[in-house]
Amino acid sequence: MTIKWGIIGLGNIAHQFIQDLQLVKNTACHAVASRTVDKARDFANKYEVPKAYGSYAELLADPQVDIVYIATPHNFHFEHTINALRAGKHVLCEKPFAVNAKQVREMIATAVKQRRFLMEAFWTRFNPSFEYCLELVENGALGVVNYINADFTFFRNDPPESRMLNMDYAGGSLLELGVYPLFLAYMLLGKPTEVKAVAHFHETGADLQVGILLKSEQGIANLFSGFQSQSDMVAKIYGTKGRMYLQPYWHETQGYELVIGNDGVYKTEKAQLPTRGKGFTYEIEECLQCIRADQLESSKWSHQNSLELTSLTDTVREQIGLKYPFE
Ligand SMILES: NC(=O)c1ccc[n+]([C@@H]2O[C@H](COP(=O)([O-])OP(=O)(O)OC[C@H]3O[C@@H](n4cnc5c(N)ncnc54)[C@H](OP(=O)(O)O)[C@@H]3O)[C@@H](O)[C@H]2O)c1
Repeated sequence: MTIKWGIIGLGNIAHQFIQDLQLVKNTACHAVASRTVDKARDFANKYEVPKAYGSYAELLADPQVDIVYIATPHNFHFEHTINALRAGKHVLCEKPFAVNAKQVREMIATAVKQRRFLMEAFWTRFNPSFEYCLELVENGALGVVNYINADFTFFRNDPPESRMLNMDYAGGSLLELGVYPLFLAYMLLGKPTEVKAVAHFHETGADLQVGILLKSEQGIANLFSGFQSQSDMVAKIYGTKGRMYLQPYWHETQGYELVIGNDGVYKTEKAQLPTRGKGFTYEIEECLQCIRADQLESSKWSHQNSLELTSLTDTVREQIGLKYPFE
């Protein structure tokens, strides 16, 4: 059976996502929805999508749509996910899954109640180099991983009303970018026992820079997100037997460097593992596989994983005093 997608919110990421969707076999985009019908029609014409709707509700009422990809700003993820699940659709929702853990709990409960598949679109989890990294960590090739250094920062000059800086959209670097380094540390070091964070803010109240230290049972992660400078965007993972670098931009990496040996004798391996398309293909395939197997969640990026990651952003926000006006 061909699983059919609907996309709501036709901005930047929706354009990237549909190009990868078209690379995946036995699935198709059946409908797209925008708040304006002309925009939906232009998008549908460009990517040869059969249906174009001028409201999100119309797409949710289309019985041919099996799964909805939610590509709206962060503050709408909760409402749009709940609406889609209640309409009987499976859901893949962009990161950050929601603005806080309370919302994530309700999204999960709704998916379970409606018996529909739900996953956060955390595409890095399915990236081939990251999967290889996870394999090396799990089989002990790096020894005990005890230090991670990762950031996500680039220079932006957005106007205050933009999605990046507007607090009504839950703007700021933490939810836009910081979730990636937090994800890496969470996956490789586990849930932290201690969190320390500091931040600089824009006059809108949005966080411009956030520095985070996480202490877990086996080590420490040094993380950063920001809008005011461009970093080299290499993620560095260090263990007692070796280290691994995920090449820039590490969250969508196309390769890695591995150095095994900590005693002066090193074995180095540098390899490219190019993604199919931009790299959204893998999360799309995960959704299809789970839906076909009648699973409500992915075992690779589970409901609990999304909840714990969002709880971490909640803790960081508490530390830096970051609250959104609608909370
Ligand atoms: N996985 C990734 O690599 C990645 C990359 C970028 C962004 N994202 C995530 O994807 C989400 C969307 O990001 P984006 O960069 O695509 O944003 P964007 O370009 O601003 O697009 C968001 C879309 O949401 C819709 N929308 C609904 N209500 C809106 C409102 N009141 N104001 C503005 N737009 C509204 C709009 O679509 P219509 O006008 O068509 O209704 C808009 O085009 C964010 O949560 C972001 O974190 C993920």
